[in-house]
Amino acid sequence: MSVPARAGETGAPGRLVAVANQKGGVGKTTTAVNLAAAVAEAGREVLLVDVDPQGNATTHLGLGHAKRRVSLYDVLLGRVPAANAVQPTEIANLAVLPSVVDLSAVEVELAQDAERNLRLRNALEPLRAAYDLVLVDCPPSLGVLTVNALAAADGVLIPLQCEFFALEGLSMILRTVDRVRRGSNPKLKIEGIVLTMYDRRNNLSDQVAADVRGFMGARVFETVIPRNVRISEAPSYGQPVGRYDVQCAGAIAYAHLAREYLGRLGGPDRRRAA
Ligand SMILES: Nc1ncnc2c1ncn2[C@@H]1O[C@H](COP(=O)(O)OP(=O)(O)O)[C@@H](O)[C@H]1O
Ligand SMILES: [Mg+2]
Repeated sequence: MSVPARAGETGAPGRLVAVANQKGGVGKTTTAVNLAAAVAEAGREVLLVDVDPQGNATTHLGLGHAKRRVSLYDVLLGRVPAANAVQPTEIANLAVLPSVVDLSAVEVELAQDAERNLRLRNALEPLRAAYDLVLVDCPPSLGVLTVNALAAADGVLIPLQCEFFALEGLSMILRTVDRVRRGSNPKLKIEGIVLTMYDRRNNLSDQVAADVRGFMGARVFETVIPRNVRISEAPSYGQPVGRYDVQCAGAIAYAHLAREYLGRLGGPDRRRAA
């Protein structure tokens, strides 16, 4: 196996990917945390940016409140540089920029700022060269925080729950992506669609998966994340599922997703080729 190029070797900015879907409970946070951890496990430098005021990704990575005194809130208000808010996690190569509940006030506090949608892009710019991948976990809305993430991103990763309304939700996020492309970020790509909470005992899961693949083709990852109880238990232990139970179906699926994703990016040579 060839040795992955390390972040910072080339000085090129790492890929910035927003994990977004305006619907809550579809697996955004679960996918952001577990994909970030699996990519870090594969030897890449990864930063997870928690843009959701609920802070679930921050909690999932085991950061208690004491470690959130400096957060993305201070960064977006321009009080501290992003680098000063980044915290290490227990996973090697994985850092987090934590959220706090105050983030929910950003919408109001930045209302008068004409450049408010570019705050995250500008804040993360100086950091990006230190990472191979920056994953941004978005809140379940299409407000100023999600728009900031989309305006900053190279690509958007869309988790879709295998349920009846999945396609409806998909067209809404796709319309938002289009709007951001026409506005602040013409190069924004659809990084991929991840089918989550797949239940093989449920015919509807298969039908939804087939419909989404018919509609979005190769942009849908082949790896499907199964409904797996270990995935839902892991957050309360402050661990990614791959750390909580490396052998469970959920951990295997996220490790597989990480390999598929890195393969799509062109594997370990991506940075050298760039
Ligand atoms: N594949 C899965 N199997 C079982 N439970 C899951 C799975 N993915 C997510 N969950 C659970 O579903 C809930 C919602 O997931 P979450 O990632 O928080 O969604 P979102 O960030 O989109 O709101 C959480 O309790 C999470 O633990
Ligand atoms: Mg979430």
